[in-house]
Amino acid sequence: MNLDLERLPRHVAIIMDGNGRWARQRVRNRVFGHRKGVETVRTIMTCCTDVGIPFLTLYAFSEENWNRPGKEVKALWQLLERYLASELPELIKNRVRLRHIGDDKNIPPHILTRLLAVENETAHLDALTLCLALNYGGRQEIARAARLFAADVKNDVCSADQLTAERFSRYLYSSDTPDPDLVIRTGGEIRVSNFLLWQIAYAELYFTEVFWPDFGKVHFLEALAEFQKRERRFGRTGEQVKKGGRPAHGGPSAADVSLTGSGSR
Ligand code: FPP
Repeated sequence: MNLDLERLPRHVAIIMDGNGRWARQRVRNRVFGHRKGVETVRTIMTCCTDVGIPFLTLYAFSEENWNRPGKEVKALWQLLERYLASELPELIKNRVRLRHIGDDKNIPPHILTRLLAVENETAHLDALTLCLALNYGGRQEIARAARLFAADVKNDVCSADQLTAERFSRYLYSSDTPDPDLVIRTGGEIRVSNFLLWQIAYAELYFTEVFWPDFGKVHFLEALAEFQKRERRFGRTGEQVKKGGRPAHGGPSAADVSLTGSGSR
């Protein structure tokens, strides 16, 4: 497989789907699938550090996931708890900084404490930022950003007519992270399920039938190869893209464009 290491996505975001069906195929319970899914998290994290992708965001628990059976919800948080308890040496070895986005309110307090501790202990690491979306919802994130902006207007920090898309994005959880260039969804469904709704405005979307526990290095590299076949226009014509240069409006910020070298994409 031919991959151009100069044209990799800077930020890959993944909807990890298919754990339950993977387990059912093996006549096991759903938690067995989630457990195997954690192994895939490790594999894909290593792929990112190997090829040099600096940002990876994983949809680990959506706000809607609270609607699952209580036992499964409990097991998912336990898996995260175990991951946080055991993973620190591996994160440090691979120079991975752990972050999370989402509403902290309903995260079990002892898990949140451990999560913040691991984030703190890995804050200086620079090969990869691994961001877990936990108790996350895209619409909820946008509504929260609007509330924060409204509070700034009320407190005379800025006025309502100063609001631009660029300014609004500073109120999102991910304000210091470039927008995803590539979104991968495993498990065969073709939808975005309230994931990073604002941030994926210009992302390439990649859907695969492969269940998350089966998604391995080869599948990930296939997704990257497909990404490199896509022409990223950001509203321009194909001819303009071939000539190079950056879009005057829309698309990623100027900083993103120069960093991703997207003139040739
Ligand atoms: C969707 O599969 C998967 C989830 C809702 C949870 C994903 C979580 C993990 C892989 C564990 C993450 C843990 C860490 C430590 C990051 P599904 O259950 O909806 O599968 P189905 O569509 O086949 O039923």
